[in-house]
Amino acid sequence: MKTQVAIIGGGPAGLLLAQLLDQHGIDSVVLEKHSRAYVLARIRAGLLERGFVELMDQAGCGARLKKQGEIHRGIFIARNDACHRIDLSALTGGRTVTVYGQTEVTRDLYDARAAGGGQVFHDVDNVQLHDITTKTPYVTYDNDAKRQRIDCDFIVGADGFHGVSRHAIPADVSRSFEKVFPFGWLGILTRTPPVSPELIYATHARGFALCTLRSQVLSRYYIQVPNGDTITDWPDARFWDEIMARLPGDVAARLVTGPSIEKSIAPLRSFVTEPMRYGALFLAGDAAHIVPPTGAKGLNTAASDVYYLYHGLRDFYQKGNSTGLDHYSERAVARVWKAQRFSWWMTNLLHRFDGQTDFDRRLQTSDLDYLLSSKAAMTSLAENYVGLPY
Ligand code: FAD
Ligand code: PHB
Repeated sequence: MKTQVAIIGGGPAGLLLAQLLDQHGIDSVVLEKHSRAYVLARIRAGLLERGFVELMDQAGCGARLKKQGEIHRGIFIARNDACHRIDLSALTGGRTVTVYGQTEVTRDLYDARAAGGGQVFHDVDNVQLHDITTKTPYVTYDNDAKRQRIDCDFIVGADGFHGVSRHAIPADVSRSFEKVFPFGWLGILTRTPPVSPELIYATHARGFALCTLRSQVLSRYYIQVPNGDTITDWPDARFWDEIMARLPGDVAARLVTGPSIEKSIAPLRSFVTEPMRYGALFLAGDAAHIVPPTGAKGLNTAASDVYYLYHGLRDFYQKGNSTGLDHYSERAVARVWKAQRFSWWMTNLLHRFDGQTDFDRRLQTSDLDYLLSSKAAMTSLAENYVGLPY
């Protein structure tokens, strides 16, 4: 098989790029390890920056998002039994975020790929990258028990944190930076009305909690749990007791509980690999970086990579100009680190850490006091939360 861009990974980053390129007649093939049903069943992010929404529009996939996505203008930070609103919109000249689940984003992208006759191969195995420092790179993989080969101009590694692409960059060229947090987030999805019209980020002596939503009938709740806990440690009743203990009394009193329809634990980790380009290989999304979910930046940072890469590839194919591709790594990495900083800061601000000294706790408290009393500090949170410019 021959294509212009071989994309490894059919998550949001890979699919969005394929769909954007297709709008400009640039041919791609997406190779996905799992089935479509498996990818669509993974409950992950839920909050989109404006840049993401605009890219979905440009990809011709924005109609359902526009109709069903909920526009949010603020968030609450809860502590000491009180909720403090941060007016994202007022602090950022009218900017907002959109609540729309990653599963829905992925479904829209798969549907668009299928409608446009895009090539997405599922259940591929043993993907390998070859000759990536030459002008004739290729990818091989197993499908239907047969070895397949795709010749291409470029390879995009959008295969997530556990993918193979990142490892194709030689160890003496790449450098990774990592921080593993000593806790994870236990998340549940329930068919219940959300407890609050806007997200509540709660900090409490028992640990962090987040109330978020997918729609007016579907709620998503998270609590900080120690590393090593499993979902069998957390039957629904224990989860509800624990989150209620961490929320302000009036919020807990109006929380509607119900059976979980999904429950999972995600470890919290910060990770960046540099460079994000090596020869004909470009990394995008979780393949190159992971953020703790506290600032909702994972999916949104995947989208900014896609933005830079899409423009670079367009300039290359339509104008013969490779400047965008040549600067891809530098531009993407610079924005990635800003998202890392923000996610790390929000994580440190709102979680409880084992072994924290009294000094650490006082600093954490004063960081939050400052945030909630200073318009400048709230503006800084707001401009990061709604999304820094690309
Ligand atoms: P992925 O979504 O990981 O997609 C990569 C795709 O590549 C997958 O479909 C995978 O099956 C495929 N693949 C992997 N290896 C191969 C291979 N060898 N060959 C072919 N295909 C391969 N972000 C938030 O903002 N908020 C959240 O609440 C949140 N929760 C999360 C919970 C979990 C458990 C995880 C893992 C992530 C979460 N994130 C969250 C982060 C967000 O979901 C990711 O940033 C986003 O999915 C990145 O998209 P991606 O396309 O880069 O990677
Ligand atoms: C979510 O809706 O799943 C979500 C929202 C905001 C976050 C993290 C997760 O910071």
